[in-house]
Amino acid sequence: MENRRGLLRGLIIMAVLMVIGLASYGVQQGLAQDAKSQLTIEKSFPSSGKCKRCHERVFEEWETSPLSKSIHTPTFRAALDAYLTSPAGKDKALCFRCHAPHVREFPDHVQLFVTQAQSGEPSLDGVACAQCHLIKQVDRTKQPPEPKYDLGNKTMYGPYKDFAANLAHQSMESALFRKSDLCLNCHQVVPVAADLGKSNDLLGNWDQSKAVKSGKECQTCHMPEQVGESANGEAKRKVANHTFPGRIGQLRQEAAKLDVSTKVEGDKTSVTVAVQSLVPHNLPTTHPGWASVVLELTVKGKNLKTVFSDKRVYGRTYADAKGQKTVFDFEAVKVLEETVLKPEETRVEAFSFPTPKDTKTFDVEAILSYAPVTGPASFLQRIEAESSKGAQDPVFQPIPIAKFSENVPVAK
Ligand code: HEC
Ligand code: HEC
Ligand code: HEC
Ligand code: HEC
Ligand code: HEC
Repeated sequence: MENRRGLLRGLIIMAVLMVIGLASYGVQQGLAQDAKSQLTIEKSFPSSGKCKRCHERVFEEWETSPLSKSIHTPTFRAALDAYLTSPAGKDKALCFRCHAPHVREFPDHVQLFVTQAQSGEPSLDGVACAQCHLIKQVDRTKQPPEPKYDLGNKTMYGPYKDFAANLAHQSMESALFRKSDLCLNCHQVVPVAADLGKSNDLLGNWDQSKAVKSGKECQTCHMPEQVGESANGEAKRKVANHTFPGRIGQLRQEAAKLDVSTKVEGDKTSVTVAVQSLVPHNLPTTHPGWASVVLELTVKGKNLKTVFSDKRVYGRTYADAKGQKTVFDFEAVKVLEETVLKPEETRVEAFSFPTPKDTKTFDVEAILSYAPVTGPASFLQRIEAESSKGAQDPVFQPIPIAKFSENVPVAK
């Protein structure tokens, strides 16, 4: 009896150990498989770390840009999960086609991209050096436009004809690198759930803008020309800034002008604000779906107490298949409202309110800013939980674009 029980216990322990062993073997196999996948991918798309050795300046600029974090942000992670768990989320590669475009060449490895992005610390690159510099051509007849990669030839395409030779790669001049076309395969179309025709465009009629007609390309403003070393130790020459200024950086000061005029007429005061967008494309660009710019007007009366405030929101509101409002463009089948500032548009907003009392003057303040992320509470909580900064994550803060304030006398 005793013996049989001992034997049984022994067998059970052995079985448990075998299961654990098999499982961890499975995990190890999985890890080995992942490492192999990554090696295969990086043979075609060398990691940015490899370029850093010789292109330190470029690397350091790119590293501070949003592009270097295209699959790393808590917001991307939370949005990716919302996509993958939604009925719309069947095509696992969708988000990566722009956020880590090498997935286009390795559709069988898409799970590795998902796993790495979900880990929060992907070692795979998102939009890095090779993801742009191996592009030989962009097919603009496709919607969205498609990049054609030249893999296996160790040739880096770029702006120079007179490049210095090096031991790591061949170089090749390509006119594409000075043209907007290069950017359009990721920046032209919003990933919506249904064909919305013209309404899934991100930039609006940018090619009809004055800036573009006068010869400006995306690079003119977003990769401004400077002088420096293109590769370590080479002669200084005209190079392109790789910090990709946008919401972050100086370029924001050139985004819009506010022209405010206030009229006091007895008990009633009216304020008009002319918001002049200097941007040659939509402001904001309309992906992700919660992207919006807000104009806030605040009037401060006696003791600087706020006596009036109001706002206008510039963005795009979508509906999903059930007709509900959604901030997730991947669920969008319809545009409910479109208020984005069109390329170089001036929008005039009128406000009126009772003239502040018991004071000789009052303050009028107008602020234009990029709004923080919005969406369902569960989504916002998820971002907060995913961020090492929690509720202090920068996506929860507005980013000011332009400001105006004046002190207005009540009577002459
Ligand atoms: C392979 C796709 C891809 C290509 C090609 C691409 N971008 Fe982007 N770009 C992205 C993604 C994805 C982001 C968002 C990164 C993030 O914040 O997670 C981005 C972000 C940006 C930003 C920052 C936007 C902000 O809100 O501050 C600028 C500016 C920008 N890109 C300009 C360009 C320009 C100029 C080109 C062409 C020279 C270009 N991009 C080519 C995918 C691409
Ligand atoms: C057609 C290309 C394209 C596709 C497809 C795409 N994105 Fe983006 N995404 C961009 C670009 C470009 C930006 C930068 C937009 C800007 O700042 O104007 C961006 C920005 C973002 C941002 C804000 C920046 C950040 O990292 O917090 C999030 C979040 C995001 N995308 C999530 C997604 C998700 C989730 C999917 C898949 C459902 C997806 N995107 C599919 C091109 C794309
Ligand atoms: C062994 C050093 C070295 C490494 C590693 C290296 N490069 Fe270069 N690269 C150079 C030198 C030198 C030049 C020429 C610079 C010049 O002419 O001023 C250059 C030029 C370029 C150009 C310009 C080509 C043209 O014709 O306009 C691009 C683009 C480029 N490299 C991209 C990369 C990328 C992407 C990586 C990583 C995958 C990389 N390089 C790795 C040394 C290197
Ligand atoms: C979003 C696409 C994109 C990414 C990502 C990108 N580049 Fe570029 N790069 C360009 C474009 C476009 C130009 C040409 C700009 C011009 O001349 O107006 C350029 C120019 C260059 C040049 C020649 C001019 C210079 O500034 O030295 C080098 C070298 C280069 N890139 C290397 C790199 C390296 C290394 C990385 C990664 C750390 C990188 N690039 C990331 C698009 C990109
Ligand atoms: C004449 C200069 C100019 C040109 C050309 C230009 N932009 Fe912009 N862009 C701006 C300014 C100004 C802003 C708004 C301020 C900011 O965010 O820095 C902006 C903002 C952006 C943003 C971030 C805005 C957001 O709402 O998230 C992206 C992404 C962008 N541009 C992409 C592009 C692309 C792609 C092209 C080419 C098709 C392009 N831009 C052409 C000036 C320009």
